[in-house]
Amino acid sequence: MLNGSTKILGVIGNPIHHSKSPQMHNAAFNHLNLNYIYIPFLVEKTQIETCMASLKSNNISGINVTVPFKESVIPFLDKIDPLAKKIGAVNTIVNKNGVLTGYNTDGYGLISDLSINKISLSNKSIAILGAGGSSKSICFSLLEQNITSLLILNRTVEKAERLKFNLIDSMNNDITNIPIETGSLSSVIDEKTLEKYDIIINTTSVGLNDNSTIFPTDNWSNQNQIVYDIIYSPPETNFLKQARLKGAKTLNGLGMLVGQGALAFKKFTSHDAPFDIMYNEVKKC
Ligand code: ATR
Repeated sequence: MLNGSTKILGVIGNPIHHSKSPQMHNAAFNHLNLNYIYIPFLVEKTQIETCMASLKSNNISGINVTVPFKESVIPFLDKIDPLAKKIGAVNTIVNKNGVLTGYNTDGYGLISDLSINKISLSNKSIAILGAGGSSKSICFSLLEQNITSLLILNRTVEKAERLKFNLIDSMNNDITNIPIETGSLSSVIDEKTLEKYDIIINTTSVGLNDNSTIFPTDNWSNQNQIVYDIIYSPPETNFLKQARLKGAKTLNGLGMLVGQGALAFKKFTSHDAPFDIMYNEVKKC
């Protein structure tokens, strides 16, 4: 029940109507009987400075940040977590007594989802498709795992190369030992191109809310691979379907969505997030 002690959380973005975060977090608060409410806020680009200043209010515990504000909120933070700083994007802001600290939980979301599905990243070679914002968060987080190599393929190869150099630039010496290669998405001709990779992750927007597909043919994966699509709508993209029919183990991005939300929840409330409750809630909507 809302009362004078209710703490406010929310998500800012534009558009924001599609966000599943309010349902996911409010279900968790109800389950744990916590006196919080989570609200979607539609923010205009010109309002971002005013919006950030208003977050310092005592009863606002924090916000999640989605497109297009993940980078533009950074100048208004008091502190930034080292990983979010490297990534250059923030999706979670915690307000502690008027001090705003920014985090990025996106890459963790994917890594925790793999772990929940008993998929280890240790000694695995990873191919990542895409070099946009999501790819960046995931790549930086992957390099903190014990992976053996990373291939970044993108439609625009220069963006993949830029990401590679950013990754190498900002990593410690020991981590730069992980070989990073780049290439064009169109260079994927058949199974041989990607056969040495244990895990293939799509971070491009191809297939989001439609049935377009990255690869015209279905002979790019095999039964020894894990194929992940960060898209969860539709639940099975053509990309995932092609891989499933080739015998690969496939996962969509619903678990990543909940994983990033669960870590944000912990940062906001200091309570462990009820992952299953949150997962079941987003699956429904
Ligand atoms: P996000 O924050 O969701 O990662 P983004 O930063 O706009 O969004 O990145 C979108 C990614 O999808 C990019 O890798 C983009 O490729 P380009 O860098 O070449 O633009 C990729 N992408 C979008 N549409 C695509 C398409 N039709 N074919 C291949 N890749 C596409």
